[in-house]
Amino acid sequence: MTSLHDLVESRKSVRGYDQSRPVAPEILERVLDAGRLAPSAKNLQPWKFLLVSSPEMLAKVHPCYQRDWFQQAPHILIVTGDRAEAWVRPSDGWNSLETDLGIAMDHLILAAHDEGLATCWISAFDPQTLREALDLDPTEEVFAITPLGYASEDALTRPKTRKTLEEVARHL
Ligand SMILES: Cc1cc2nc3c(=O)[nH]c(=O)nc-3n(C[C@H](O)[C@H](O)[C@H](O)COP(=O)(O)O)c2cc1C
Repeated sequence: MTSLHDLVESRKSVRGYDQSRPVAPEILERVLDAGRLAPSAKNLQPWKFLLVSSPEMLAKVHPCYQRDWFQQAPHILIVTGDRAEAWVRPSDGWNSLETDLGIAMDHLILAAHDEGLATCWISAFDPQTLREALDLDPTEEVFAITPLGYASEDALTRPKTRKTLEEVARHL
């Protein structure tokens, strides 16, 4: 069994997908279930996970992020949420939507990696194009999207770069 540390250390954003290799339905279900199990403020779970797989829907979604590699993936996973369903801190009105959806997205991409799948968290999509493609209710906000599939052979070579632990952590 992979340790959590090995999992987070080996996960990378993947910008190249194997178009010829589909993902088994039971693997997709386990990935989605990891999002369902994420924690959220007051356990309000203000999210929806949209898995786009049909050629018709993929063609509608692709224009929201115009990169060749984005179009290679057999699936696109989209995390949306309803701000009115998220927790609001009484003292100052802070809304937990982005935090809740960020945790769910992290669960989803780590679960995908654990299943041997590749992802790339994308925020630079065009929200309006995506809203229209998905026919979203006005209350649903698109938080993040990722291609989902097996990495192409040339896509995994980029090294992972990070600040050192000394730069970001302090023992007090
Ligand atoms: C909130 C967020 C938004 C991101 N948006 C994009 C994006 O629009 N396009 C892209 O190619 N990568 C995007 N990324 C991926 C980051 O560039 C990547 O996580 C970072 O460079 C670290 O590389 P790694 O994921 O391979 O460790 C995003 C990541 C996060 C967490």
